[in-house]
Amino acid sequence: MNIINEISEIISEAFEKCGYDKNLGKIALSNRPDLCQFTCNGAMAGAKLYKKPPLAIANEIVEKIHSNEVFDCYKEESALRKDIFSKIEAVPPGFINISLKNEFFENYINKIKSFDDLISQKFSDKIILDYGGPNVAKPLHIGHLRSAIIGESIKRISKALGYNTIGDIHLGDWGLPMGLIITEIKERYPNLVYFQDNYTPSESDSLPFGIDELNEIYPTASSKSKLSDEYKLNAQEATKKLQNKDIGYYELWKKFVALSIEDSKKIYADLNVDFDLWYGESTCRDYIQKLVNTLIEKGITYESEGALVVDVKTEEDKLEIPPIIIRKSDGAQLYSTTDLATIMQRIEMFDPNQIIYLTDNRQSLHFTQVFRCARKGEILPNKTKLEHIGFGTMNGKDGKPYKTRDGGVMQLSELIKTITEKAYEEISDRISNETTEKEKREIAQKVGIAALKFGDLYNHRSRDYIFDMDRFISFEGKTGPYLLYNTARINSIIKKTGSDGGRIRIFSDTEFDIIFKILFTEDIILRSFNEKAPNYLCEHVYEIASLFSKFYSESNIINEESEEIRKSRISLINLVKEVIISILDLLAIEHVDKM
Ligand code: ARG
Repeated sequence: MNIINEISEIISEAFEKCGYDKNLGKIALSNRPDLCQFTCNGAMAGAKLYKKPPLAIANEIVEKIHSNEVFDCYKEESALRKDIFSKIEAVPPGFINISLKNEFFENYINKIKSFDDLISQKFSDKIILDYGGPNVAKPLHIGHLRSAIIGESIKRISKALGYNTIGDIHLGDWGLPMGLIITEIKERYPNLVYFQDNYTPSESDSLPFGIDELNEIYPTASSKSKLSDEYKLNAQEATKKLQNKDIGYYELWKKFVALSIEDSKKIYADLNVDFDLWYGESTCRDYIQKLVNTLIEKGITYESEGALVVDVKTEEDKLEIPPIIIRKSDGAQLYSTTDLATIMQRIEMFDPNQIIYLTDNRQSLHFTQVFRCARKGEILPNKTKLEHIGFGTMNGKDGKPYKTRDGGVMQLSELIKTITEKAYEEISDRISNETTEKEKREIAQKVGIAALKFGDLYNHRSRDYIFDMDRFISFEGKTGPYLLYNTARINSIIKKTGSDGGRIRIFSDTEFDIIFKILFTEDIILRSFNEKAPNYLCEHVYEIASLFSKFYSESNIINEESEEIRKSRISLINLVKEVIISILDLLAIEHVDKM
């Protein structure tokens, strides 16, 4: 069920009956709701095609509909159909303004038994969503937040539309940082089994350090390599040895990768983000040779300063697009190599229709190069679309990337802790006395994460935004806590009213507004999916919640005398609750039952 499509069909048929192209009959939501609910500007487009004044065409269409002529596509229900318009008129210069009767919306809304009934269009394409993208042995920091939050939401939105979506974290676990880590471990623990000649793996092999030391090893190694050429060479050598699967290095690497994954899993769980696949850059290692051979056989590679490269620039480029490096002069594999080989692997394993990558805008050149090389090398079928979804950065109030107080990179664990504590302070006064301390902590966690996530998702992903904790955590305005507070409130109202409702009818303007908003949820979901931009859903759920507040303050429910009105309102608030919770779920924000 989709109202826009359904009404478009009727208008299209009128266009056809008047001898015009039926595609002109597509309608859209009006941007002047004070004048009408929908508009069709097909007569404007038709004017050029048929060399007639647009208003004349619009008038013909309106007359056709007023003529009550039976519309073929609705033969059976035609009596009802022709009576659905409360207004349909042609207005200069040639628009058709349309509004529908309340009964029409009432009929629709009463058919909605669950959120899923609001989604009429189902797709079946297979999509791989590459998001998260943390790097092994580097604690998750602020730079990883947006990919996780936006990616998780897009995954859920696409699943709701029926897409067969696979979320892959694509860990950074194969490049030079791995060589740096191994080099530093070797300096600290030269006698470890992994470094012995003739090493053979055994069950009892372990690591001599925990996650805190691992997280400190990488930055130490990275700064050492900047000061010493020898250290850097060792790291490059270690990277190559690992990539060639030296058994000791490989086993050691497996161990610290596992330790690092275990650590980041906790933070992703706090953020309500989860992945179907925990693959990494390394997962494609068996495809690398095949990739290189394919590109060479295609005749598109050449040597440049010892490296193997492919030209990817085109004549239309306004900016210089440098060649992509497939293999470095020392034989090592790069970020671009693994991204290309991963495409080959994903095609072979999953045969997806689309692969979507979520990283910040700064990686757009990298993906342009990778996508062009993949097409040029024909390593994927034409049907498979590749798309990079870039996003802006989260900034501090100074407009620069958000930092800790002492100017360092803010780790996600710290950020989550800070905002959860702030949420705890905020809810402490509001929450009822019967709530236990444990429950309070759980609610604070959900409120804090909702504040963080909604604050991020509310902005169109392509833009930078300012992390303003006080505003994000506020219970008023367009915030996560406002929405959670309202779901808890609806919940407590439902506890009093019960869920024994009846047929939903429209008794007030606000009820109409709520129903109208809810019925257009699918269009918002589609828009969010098409633009890969969950902010439209954020705005939508906020509008529903604030309309609910208005409705609740101006209408009687429990003590409403008319049974018909009371039952209708009970059903309506139950539906509102379902819709708000389901949209929050698409944003991967958990709701609370009480607050
Ligand atoms: N690990 C990368 C980074 O930290 C992000 C990975 C994104 N995915 C990809 N297939 N390149 O920048």
